[in-house]
Amino acid sequence: MLKTTLLNAVQAGAAQLMHYYNGSFIISNKEGVNNLVTEADHAAEKAIIEVIHNDYPDHFILSEETGEIISNSEYKWIIDPIDGTVNFANGIPLCCVSIGLEKDGEMILGAVYAPILNELYFAQKGFGASLNDKRIHVSQKAELIHSCLVTGFPYTYLDAPNGPLPVFEKLIRKGIPVRRLGSAAIDLCWVAAGRFDGFYEHHLQAWDSAAGFLIVQEAGGKVTDFEGNAFSVYQPHVLATNGKIHEELRAVLNGGEIKM
Ligand code: IPD
Ligand code: CA
Ligand code: CA
Repeated sequence: MLKTTLLNAVQAGAAQLMHYYNGSFIISNKEGVNNLVTEADHAAEKAIIEVIHNDYPDHFILSEETGEIISNSEYKWIIDPIDGTVNFANGIPLCCVSIGLEKDGEMILGAVYAPILNELYFAQKGFGASLNDKRIHVSQKAELIHSCLVTGFPYTYLDAPNGPLPVFEKLIRKGIPVRRLGSAAIDLCWVAAGRFDGFYEHHLQAWDSAAGFLIVQEAGGKVTDFEGNAFSVYQPHVLATNGKIHEELRAVLNGGEIKM
């Protein structure tokens, strides 16, 4: 069953994450300063792909460190073996395994497992979202000015007009708390759990958002690009909110002022 395979796969990845956490491991640099990949990312990815291939040898796989294992299957597993690698490498517990499953281009299952926090988020299209088997819902906050937000920063485009720094500055100058956790998958899950009212990020990859996107939607939230279009994991801009502050935050991302 697909759900069982998904949960076994996140557990297998998380076992590798835990094996290396706070221990010693090889760290290499990808493009960009401090854009890291560790031995643990590769070990987690190998373990995850093994589980999926054992159960479904013909399925398409898109995984951060390996890239694509192409097949003409209608099913595509989108894998981030460790999201929050910089946290992981520094012994900061905000890191997780994130896996989404698409069928015919639609996300149908998602799981994010942060083993050090003991938090397993899961969603199935049309069946809601859960944290450790308990249903979760987005927050009810209706005004941006009273919201608690989270974001992340890319390695480039920081100063672009309406880019990450100008938007961040505009929000914090109005006193709106904007956190930066360092794991987009956890950011999305914490919107789903109602801890944050909204999340935005200017430059994500499919594996960062695949599972979390479905988890937010199934928790009653809204996910779009910055124009308000239906979200696709294959474009970089992610705006995920409780739905109530969506338009207000979307306007700010496009140069609008914050209502007091
Ligand atoms: C990163 C994290 C971070 C986000 C970066 C991602 P990684 O993923 O999700 O929060 O700001 O854009 O690349 O490299 O830790 O898997
Ligand atoms: Ca990631
Ligand atoms: Ca990663």
